[in-house]
Amino acid sequence: MKKMNFKSYVPAPAVELESRDWPDKRITKAPYWCSVDLRDGNQALDIPMNPEQKKEMFLLLCDIGFKEIEVGFPSASQTDFDFLRVLIDEKLIPDDVTIQVLTQAREHLIRRTFEALDGVKNAIVHMYNSVSVLQRDVVFNMSKAEITKIAVDGASLVKKISDEINNPGIRFEYSPESFTGTELDYALEVSHRVMDIFQPTKEKKLILNLPATVEMSTPNIYADQIEWFCKHVRNRDTVLISLHAHNDRGTAVAASELAVMAGADRVEGTLFGNGERTGNMDIVTMALNLFSQGVDPELDFSDIDHVKKVYTAATGMSVHPRHPYAGELVYTAFSGSHQDAINKGLKKRKERRDTIWGVPYLPINPEDVGRTYQSIIRINSQSGKGGVAYIMANDYGYNLPKKMHPEFGKIIQRVTEKLGSEISSRKIWEIFQEEYLKRQTPYELKHIKILMDADSAHAASEGLTTVEGILRYGVKDMEISMKGNGPIDAFLKGINAVISSPVTLTSYSEHDMAGGSDSTAVSYISLKNKDGMECYGVGTDSNISMASIKAVVSALNRLEVG
Ligand code: KIV
Ligand code: ZN
Repeated sequence: MKKMNFKSYVPAPAVELESRDWPDKRITKAPYWCSVDLRDGNQALDIPMNPEQKKEMFLLLCDIGFKEIEVGFPSASQTDFDFLRVLIDEKLIPDDVTIQVLTQAREHLIRRTFEALDGVKNAIVHMYNSVSVLQRDVVFNMSKAEITKIAVDGASLVKKISDEINNPGIRFEYSPESFTGTELDYALEVSHRVMDIFQPTKEKKLILNLPATVEMSTPNIYADQIEWFCKHVRNRDTVLISLHAHNDRGTAVAASELAVMAGADRVEGTLFGNGERTGNMDIVTMALNLFSQGVDPELDFSDIDHVKKVYTAATGMSVHPRHPYAGELVYTAFSGSHQDAINKGLKKRKERRDTIWGVPYLPINPEDVGRTYQSIIRINSQSGKGGVAYIMANDYGYNLPKKMHPEFGKIIQRVTEKLGSEISSRKIWEIFQEEYLKRQTPYELKHIKILMDADSAHAASEGLTTVEGILRYGVKDMEISMKGNGPIDAFLKGINAVISSPVTLTSYSEHDMAGGSDSTAVSYISLKNKDGMECYGVGTDSNISMASIKAVVSALNRLEVG
């Protein structure tokens, strides 16, 4: 086998920090969020969004609560230019939303960007140029001074045009692109030169966006870089430090979280992490991570399936079934022990009326994102009896007695093993009906009459209840007429007098079914035959005595089948 040549890679350099404060910090409030779905996310689609899809996505982002939305790169794409015009001309931008547009630090592109922005109320002009060691060397073949000049010239033109326009709603963002591949002191130097031009103030801050254009290190190194930058940047209170992490190592969310702990104020990202290569930082995950720590994310994902629906229709991308918080399978437990624990957790929570969430294996309450409990438990051959019992109780209102769980659990397990796949709640219900409720062979109850005797003296000697009826076995009708301490006792005595192998009652329980106008009783009865074989029967009826008698016949039939 060919060996992978790891020696051609070098580790990311460590950051020299006199003191490293971020590990002791907590995130206690949401950062300023900026969605870059319509720019970075859109650029990464094989078929970019059409104007209608862009509009749908924009409206969704506004509904979710984004206050800053990068809507395109209008100087590089006519579609983006036109879309921006639609947003402005059709007055689709809510007053509290600021749109953001990207431009390279090049004169004709900057001029075209301002043309696209004509008449806008609030906008961020986001200018970038690549500053990294690698880009300077292999792409531009330029010195640091030449790269700095691109940034300075670009910023000067942006400032000049906006001074001419004199629109107080226009703010500025500068990205030293590929920041994480740049010497920190050089990234700081370029940023300071750009700050010199924009002259930001506490009231009108400059956004300094420090991108992990390609994710090149463990998240702690990004956090170190951000902490270093925050501690060294001049007039820290006149800039907003922004993050823009890509996900090449699969840790963009972690990197952004640690970098917020390290002092960043603002986070750029996309829904479900769409973006170049492995994507941008996933805002859904980061926001819901905050939520799960008791922090208001200031974004509304209370109907995550709707967000997913609009996102997939607009982008043509799918959301992985195991995507944090949003995937189809993330509130589903397959393992029996997990199902059992979830079952107990949900029950205790209800009983205790807990207000703080704490259910094993469910980091958040699925209802908080518009998902339901019904889909939590699916049954496959690895599921335990607890899962099956949960489905019966939760989906159909049958609280099977504890001793019955293994019996029905085995029946379902046999089916799932044969199928080799999971089984739906509906199928479990069908099996339950066939197995317990609908069995009419070989014994069938043709007719039954229950007579209660109120005479207690009589009752003491012979029993209070008389049961009369006809029980058919195959084609043979057998008459039953017997007294007993109650309908079950009388019926059992009656059938033992006519069947070939007598049975004894080993357990009995019943409950009412919740819901519906007339309440139905459910009875669970287990019988044992002379060979020691024991099994359950279930009966339902509006009359509890009838439900019990049906349960006896059900158990009798099941014993017969073996
Ligand atoms: O990834 C990146 O560096 C970018 C910049 C343009 C901010 O998308
Ligand atoms: Zn990017």
